[in-house]
Amino acid sequence: MRTRLVAGNWKMHTTVREAHDLAAGVRDRLAAADGADVVVCPPFTALAEVGRTLAGSPIELGAQDVHWESHGAFTGEISAPMLWDLGCTYVIVGHSERRHLLGEDDETVRRKVAAALAHELIPILCVGESLEERDGGRTERVVQTQVRIATLDVPPDQAGQLVIAYEPVWAIGTGRPATGAEAGRVAGLLRGWLREWFGEAAEAIRILYGGSVTPETIGEFAAQPEVDGALVGGASLDADAFARIVWAVATKDSSGAP
Ligand code: PGA
Repeated sequence: MRTRLVAGNWKMHTTVREAHDLAAGVRDRLAAADGADVVVCPPFTALAEVGRTLAGSPIELGAQDVHWESHGAFTGEISAPMLWDLGCTYVIVGHSERRHLLGEDDETVRRKVAAALAHELIPILCVGESLEERDGGRTERVVQTQVRIATLDVPPDQAGQLVIAYEPVWAIGTGRPATGAEAGRVAGLLRGWLREWFGEAAEAIRILYGGSVTPETIGEFAAQPEVDGALVGGASLDADAFARIVWAVATKDSSGAP
């Protein structure tokens, strides 16, 4: 019922030329990928070029952040209508690097989620606990609070469009992923809370796992019934690795290659 999704977060990597080459590599490898939606999220500076490179392919374009206002005196910021104008259909919101390195709080994330939905962008809402919170037994409370505040303004009839990426902070960029069972457990809890808040619409919300996903580790996440795909950082900078991850998610088979 839910179409699986793999999103590549290129973070602060790639010049325009490099982004073109990477996008072309992904496009050529995934021309026939059925069974999963695919989105790549280059830096703002490469969105236009990657949009041109992907034109006519099923791979969608996403941004890594968005401001909550549609225009105004916000030096350096980028708004949802600007992203939509470039052909974006997704936007990452509340990534842990923005929360922890750039001071983004739950309230800011809430406004960004609302702005994305108001301008027809699908928000990929990132949540996850730090190592300290995990060791203190606070994973559930932290994740629940993050999602609750971020979705407070989401009307029930739009809730089904949401994508939630569970990304334990200690697993991001560390080469130390969570286990499939851990990701599946938190995804199951998320589904339960989403049902409480949004009723039936919760069944349509896609829940991704993110944090050191590679072609070698994706299998155990893809096998979890409540995990609908992955948000991939480092491995999305390698077209081959990214295509293999998409393939594993689309087919739930981690042994094959596109
Ligand atoms: P990683 O990053 O795959 O490099 O751990 C994931 C993310 O930050 O979304």
